[in-house]
Amino acid sequence: MNLLFENQLNQTLAEIFKTLSLDTKFATVKISNRPDLSDFQCNGALALAKIAHQNPCEIAAKIAAKLEENENIAAVSVDGPGFINIKLKDEYIAANIDKIAQDERLGCGKIENPHKVVLDYGGPNVAKEMHVGHLRSGVIGESIRRIEKFAGNEVIADVHLGDWGTPMGMILAEIILQDGNLDKVTTYDIAQITEFYKRANIRCKEDEAAKEKARLITAALQDGNAEYRRAWQHLRSESVKAIQENYVQLDVNFDLWWGESDAHETCGKIVEIARSKKIAEVDNGAEIIRLEEGNKPKPPVILIKSDGGYTYHTTDLATIKMRFDELKAEEIVYFTDSRQALHFEQVFEATQKLDIAPNVKLQHIVFGTVNGADGKPFKTRDGGVMNLETLIEMSKNKVRQSLPKAGEVAGYGEAEIEKLTQQIAIAAIKFQDLKNTIASGYVFELDDFAKFEGKTGPYIQYAVARINSVLRKAAANGLHIGSVVLAAPEERTLALKLAQVHNVIMRAHSEKEPSIIADYTYTLAQVFSTFYNACSIMNAENTALAASRLRLAKLVRDVLVLMLDLLGIEAPEVMLKAEN
Ligand code: ARG
Repeated sequence: MNLLFENQLNQTLAEIFKTLSLDTKFATVKISNRPDLSDFQCNGALALAKIAHQNPCEIAAKIAAKLEENENIAAVSVDGPGFINIKLKDEYIAANIDKIAQDERLGCGKIENPHKVVLDYGGPNVAKEMHVGHLRSGVIGESIRRIEKFAGNEVIADVHLGDWGTPMGMILAEIILQDGNLDKVTTYDIAQITEFYKRANIRCKEDEAAKEKARLITAALQDGNAEYRRAWQHLRSESVKAIQENYVQLDVNFDLWWGESDAHETCGKIVEIARSKKIAEVDNGAEIIRLEEGNKPKPPVILIKSDGGYTYHTTDLATIKMRFDELKAEEIVYFTDSRQALHFEQVFEATQKLDIAPNVKLQHIVFGTVNGADGKPFKTRDGGVMNLETLIEMSKNKVRQSLPKAGEVAGYGEAEIEKLTQQIAIAAIKFQDLKNTIASGYVFELDDFAKFEGKTGPYIQYAVARINSVLRKAAANGLHIGSVVLAAPEERTLALKLAQVHNVIMRAHSEKEPSIIADYTYTLAQVFSTFYNACSIMNAENTALAASRLRLAKLVRDVLVLMLDLLGIEAPEVMLKAEN
């Protein structure tokens, strides 16, 4: 099904260009930036005239004459230096909207060549509290996961848990230091484990011997020491439980919970491949791969450190090999902040040299930092790293202030209010994040983004709830949904906006940019508001008009719900703020 006006017009134009022996490359329209004059515009005549040294207006006039014969077009004019302005027939727009409204994908197609994508986001670390950086990675990754799936790709989301580096040895060493042994490890919960890690961190900064001890324990753990492995298993599983709770709150989901430790075996294979390809080099006791290619020389990839341990590089290379061999990935996308840009450049280049993932597209998507009002990375009041749990709690507290208390509204007890608070708080956090382009950072300003008006998540949720309420009322009054009839200009504007859904989602997909969807939801909610104020549903002049307006309203609702879903945001039926 191709319900996109642009595509249909492009096709019509291509046929006309062919009959006129014009290059069809220029047979394209774009949405008009003068909606008062036209719906779409074709500027092809200008380019053609330049090449053929002819008068653009003459070429445009010939094309326009043919366009006028088209049954779907209401008016064509040649304006300015040779722009062709096209206005569609109302009945044609209306018929298309009817089809979109009855289509379960709301007129959205899928991509032509689907493939398998592995998404690497989240990336939390065992025993370390999750911070706002992990928030962005999770929020963006989750939205991309949903968009990729909707577009038709097969997606595997992998959390890539940091469960294998020196911090593991540091915690074990700290526990041994305090308890004398590891006997009590399995009784420790996540709060205690995190505490051990904090203390270990301070100790290792000040004390060389402690650092050395942690390093030795890490090496032994990686070598398979049974006692360390058992203890580590407990640290890992307690951490995973805590991390999962955070992600459940955020509605961030994964298909796989592989960690760095799962790549350990394969790290050995990476070293073997490097050696057999003669690209491994011994340098100061370490084994490295030099990267000289390109115009920007990069530091070498270190496969094995001088102490014999594998590195973050090796782990990532091994993980790429596993994703290629076992998961059959055709594309792998990573989401971290810019501090890891060089790391991934190195890893990607080494992947080419090792030839471990032939023809796999590797991409690192870098996001900006979440800042406080002072423009510096967001911190707690005492200057510490703001952890994810506190952040979610803060957002919930803010939202609670705008909602009635449990029991104040019939049917809304403790559990219902809590659920709603959660849904709105998460929408506030996620929308604030996703409305910005991924590359740009943003200021974490709860007061602004938990508001029910402006470009916020709660505002879009509110727009949905408002339409839900209209639909309920209409149903109670015996009104039915029917074919679209475009009478008022506000109806026409809304219909044309609704016809863009497929394009908006496809652009968000190809550019991997959820902000395109976030932007659209906001504009659509505004266009709807203008329509709703001008075109009464309950007091429409006749039932046909009421039926048409109901269909438009329901379609706006469905589009907003779909788009919020692609952003990873839920749309509650009711918002418990005055909805009329
Ligand atoms: N655990 C890392 C961190 O906290 C992020 C992991 C990113 N993914 C990867 N495959 N390296 O910074």
